[in-house]
Amino acid sequence: MTASLISQFLPVLSERYLVDENILVPELLARCDTLQPHQAAAERLATQIVEGIRAQKPRSMDINQLLVAYQLTSEEGIALMCVAEALLRIPDTQTRNALIRDKMSVTEWEASSAANPFQNFSTWALNLTGNVLHLQNKDSGWGVFGKLIARLGQPVIRTALEQAMRLMGNQFVLGETIDEAIANRRKHPYPHATASYDMLGEGARTINDAARYFQAYETAIHAVGKAKMGDSISIKLSALHPRYEWRKPDRIRHELFHSVFKLCAIAKAYDLMVTIDAEEMDRLVPSLELFEMLARTPELSGWNGLGLAVQAYGKRCTQALEFVIALARDTRRIIPTRLVKGAYWDSEIKRAQVEGHENYPVFTRKSTTDVSYLAGAQLMLSAPDAIYPQFATHNAMTAAMIMQIVGDKKYEFQRLHGMGDNLYESLSAVLGRPVPYRIYAPVGPHHDLLAYLVRRLLENGANSSFVYQIADKNIPVKKMLDNPVQFTANLSDKLHPKISLPPDIFGAERKNSFGPLLPEPMMRDKLIKDIQKFLLQPYEAAPIIDGKSLTGVRQTKYDPSDNRRALGTSIDCTTDDVARAMEVAHHTQHEWDKMGGAARGKILARAADLFEFHMPQLVALIVREGGRTLQSAINDFREAVDFLRYYGAQAAREFETPVRLPGPTGEQNELWLRGRGVFVCIAPWNFPLAIFTGQATAALAAGNSVIAKPAGQTPMVAHYAVKLLHQAGVPTGVLHFTPGSGSALGKVFVESKY
Ligand code: FAD
Ligand code: 2OP
Repeated sequence: MTASLISQFLPVLSERYLVDENILVPELLARCDTLQPHQAAAERLATQIVEGIRAQKPRSMDINQLLVAYQLTSEEGIALMCVAEALLRIPDTQTRNALIRDKMSVTEWEASSAANPFQNFSTWALNLTGNVLHLQNKDSGWGVFGKLIARLGQPVIRTALEQAMRLMGNQFVLGETIDEAIANRRKHPYPHATASYDMLGEGARTINDAARYFQAYETAIHAVGKAKMGDSISIKLSALHPRYEWRKPDRIRHELFHSVFKLCAIAKAYDLMVTIDAEEMDRLVPSLELFEMLARTPELSGWNGLGLAVQAYGKRCTQALEFVIALARDTRRIIPTRLVKGAYWDSEIKRAQVEGHENYPVFTRKSTTDVSYLAGAQLMLSAPDAIYPQFATHNAMTAAMIMQIVGDKKYEFQRLHGMGDNLYESLSAVLGRPVPYRIYAPVGPHHDLLAYLVRRLLENGANSSFVYQIADKNIPVKKMLDNPVQFTANLSDKLHPKISLPPDIFGAERKNSFGPLLPEPMMRDKLIKDIQKFLLQPYEAAPIIDGKSLTGVRQTKYDPSDNRRALGTSIDCTTDDVARAMEVAHHTQHEWDKMGGAARGKILARAADLFEFHMPQLVALIVREGGRTLQSAINDFREAVDFLRYYGAQAAREFETPVRLPGPTGEQNELWLRGRGVFVCIAPWNFPLAIFTGQATAALAAGNSVIAKPAGQTPMVAHYAVKLLHQAGVPTGVLHFTPGSGSALGKVFVESKY
């Protein structure tokens, strides 16, 4: 089975992956022009919905209100997250108890004041679990609980915390097994709603995990199919294969495809709808490709139950929807398409920063995600022959705007179990007729809940979230119902002012090291081509002493991952060469030191830029000579660039101006940091570029001259780095490159008078 449409979409998906928001957002706003006439009616409807919700009593335990009280930005919220995470993750009771003991000793409670976050949290936990533990005084306030905690001691606190976590699980999970979930659903107080069961579990780490999750899905599909309640299934692909990642396209195309196909075939037999959930951004293209393969599988043809979730916060949302529409038309089917805003925002932002990408794959402003959602909704509604639109939101304003534009098209809303309980009931009440909606219902044991729970806590706790705002009665209705299109149009800069782009996260001090976006196939292919170009010529490494490349016996170097492949040659230093290098380094060090930290810092910063310019060459050498994977080589390369910029900045800060010391008798005392002399830097093999560069540049930054001896396994990587450092302006008399045997050269280093 092949996927061909996706290859047509790759260029545009590539172009949009990290596109500048100031370019993309005006396009999205233009798509929303047609919404303007509906705005007033949408606001009126949303106001009625919100007033209806606020007038109702919450049906489930009001976790939203608790999170408003213990905001995630507060220490209580952080404590809550920490404990929740730890307790759910630790498999055995003994270790769980040990953790709680460690974090919350009785003395800590006794001594603590209300400022102690864990005291507040435990009070919260006890309040929450009062019913379970039959504590009579659960509403009596802080003082009572302080005493109670001291009197009852650790075991009760422990139990209370565990119960609290379990209750949180119950808030978001419909049942621990599919049968329990279906039974709970039959008792459900929402007569007009259908459900989509999600078997908890994601990010399988092993084949055994994946097999367990597959089994859970298979059982669930049979159970839901037999129950005939109009319900459906939601599947996370990351649960079904431990290597569902861009690096493993063949395993996705064969093994993962096979698993999902089997589940879809069973679902089709019951005429049950399946939605493939949307996960991390770097999985978008693999998921679209796999989805296309499913849509083109003859056994699944004629089935209008194959569905996909698309995330509006992604800069490629419009293109992903256009792909779905084209695929539906091409395969003559209707694709149920769930539009969500996206649940992984925090981790997408962090990951782009950690990996040093040039921009983010998601929007940085909440209002832009709302705009993108509305643009996406219009696009979906414009293709009723291709898409059955499913609008997943807990936001009354978003839902109200959808109501203005759906017209007489077939559609449904969706919400998560345990969230937005009253939204669609309130909407139905205002309209005087039930609106069709579906509840996403996670099913599974609590130990599989963690990742899902953390996303829900982040979502419920973020003050930009609608569910957070509606729970906080201090927030006026009008403020919640801002027009996102108008708001976004008025912004002069579409990038959030408090979210620096990944290259700028270290502020004025230094630039973040650049990391290529490997998951993106077109960018990856270009990098690999550049690397291969460089690998076509054999590399010749040689000692560089006082700027001169030495000649000598050339030893052929082989690729450690394939000993038959010669990479080029390298020459070792003699002990005389090293002695000469030490001599020169000794005489040049003073001038280098005198140059000052700022000037040295500039040279190192220039070297960092040169390293980045020559990234394909450096990465190629690390891969071949160091036997590294592409990702590991890039990490090594980036760390080297970080070292250069970091030590460069330190040089300018610490070595340029003196530290003022006290002058007790009125004298002026200053402390100047100075270079110490000649440094011999002997690099290990494990980070061929980063540690080699880091040691040498720390010494150089501090005004020392350097004899750099690379690891015996990787002289070529180090040779290239030294050439770039020289090119950047490190004087050749200050930095010498002395490859060779450690045991032979070591003696000269140790015995040198310098
Ligand atoms: P709102 O409060 O209006 O929006 C909150 C959302 O805005 C955040 O979740 C985030 O997406 C976005 N946002 C917040 N801050 C920013 C910012 N600074 N910049 C840009 N955007 C920001 N999510 C998935 O990822 N994959 C799924 O498959 C998926 N399936 C779902 C199924 C259902 C039935 C439902 C209801 C939700 C599903 N979700 C899924 C979760 C969904 O993404 C969140 O519930 C949704 O984002 C919340 O949006 P809202 O309209 O309810 O709330
Ligand atoms: C999530 O797992 C609901 O798919 C969404 O966060």
